Amino acid sequence: VALSQDDLKKLAAEKAVEAIKPGMVLGLGTGSTAAFAVDQIGKLLASGQLHDIVGIPTSKRTEEQARSLGIPLVALDTHPRIDLAIDGADEVDPNLDLVKGRGGALLREKMVEAVAEKFIVVADDTKLVTGLGGSGLAMPVEVVQFCWKFNLIRLKDLFKEFGCDAKLRVGGDGEAYVTDNSNYIIDLYFKEPLKDGFAAGREIGKLEGVVEHGLFLGMATSVIIAGKNGVEVMTK
Ligand code: A5P
Repeated sequence: VALSQDDLKKLAAEKAVEAIKPGMVLGLGTGSTAAFAVDQIGKLLASGQLHDIVGIPTSKRTEEQARSLGIPLVALDTHPRIDLAIDGADEVDPNLDLVKGRGGALLREKMVEAVAEKFIVVADDTKLVTGLGGSGLAMPVEVVQFCWKFNLIRLKDLFKEFGCDAKLRVGGDGEAYVTDNSNYIIDLYFKEPLKDGFAAGREIGKLEGVVEHGLFLGMATSVIIAGKNGVEVMTK
């Protein structure tokens, strides 16, 4: 039987969970792939196969899921060092650099994953790109609500050579999408991949009113990719 995309996500997520050891402080990712990892952690705790771990969720959604599974939660304030973070991604390039945040959780994800000793990315093989921004899907930038149009125009201008379009993210209710941190998201769409993700990240970061962007560069320590030929682990 052919595996569905969800089967592949689950396969990658469960493989990553094998790296968890008692005593660890875990970063709990957000999104449909990371949710399979959180589920699996809950199951292993419930069956007693795993014990003595605490988790730091990267979104209110993940926090709710983890709570419902009885995963003990702590905060970065008291646990500033994370042993292992497991999270999905929207794009993965050959250097293990990522685009994240289609699920809107980029800010907390970046705060948590930046201090993780190990950061394992879990994904199905549709997430692989040769260059970041190349999927044609959104590259999110979290901005303060104040004068968001001003920043939308500045972001679009910044990347005009890449044929960049910029849109305010709108939720299912037709209203502006509001993040867990009460900010807006501007989604950037590129016609061609970015030549230099680090330079792009620096330029975005210079804009006043930008809170965070979805380029996760030099952060992943490994990527577990599931495809129809099985699970592959990418390391540097
Ligand atoms: C959440 O904000 C994102 O960064 C997710 O990690 C990313 O969108 C991947 O989500 P899926 O696993 O649902 O594709």
